[in-house]
Amino acid sequence: MHAHLSPRLVGASAPAPSAALARFHGHDSDVDSDAPEVSFRFLAKLDGEDVAVVAQVGENLLRVAQRYKLPLEGACECSIACSTCHVILEEVVFDSLEEACEDEDDMLDMAWGLEETSRLGCQVKVAENFEGTVVTIPAASRNFYVDGEVPRGSTH
Ligand code: FES
Repeated sequence: MHAHLSPRLVGASAPAPSAALARFHGHDSDVDSDAPEVSFRFLAKLDGEDVAVVAQVGENLLRVAQRYKLPLEGACECSIACSTCHVILEEVVFDSLEEACEDEDDMLDMAWGLEETSRLGCQVKVAENFEGTVVTIPAASRNFYVDGEVPRGSTH
């Protein structure tokens, strides 16, 4: 039913030092400024970029990645209508989250590189047990939401 779909690839747009650490200064208006901070890492599979981040509990995982200019897109602006914010979580973190809703599961079914612990980053809020975890950004994403997107990167 989605025969027109083609993989849309994402790539790192800006180099960042390995394990770079920058502080969060409370830019997300949805997050209580007094919420505790947690430190964890993003691993971008496209180029192996490994970036340490600090986020506040309650912050949207997609927004954290975007704040650090990581190659994670949010084509539908968190309305569960794309899979460009697809991330892969560690099992212990994945198991601690509320289950994905039906709409999220439907979008995940179309995600490139789906894994058992895949979620849509825009639907995941940072929690205290994210401390020390690694969030993997797949090497590619499939964008069926935005027409005319030009693929970047390559699939394997
Ligand atoms: Fe589209 Fe997350 S940004 S589902």
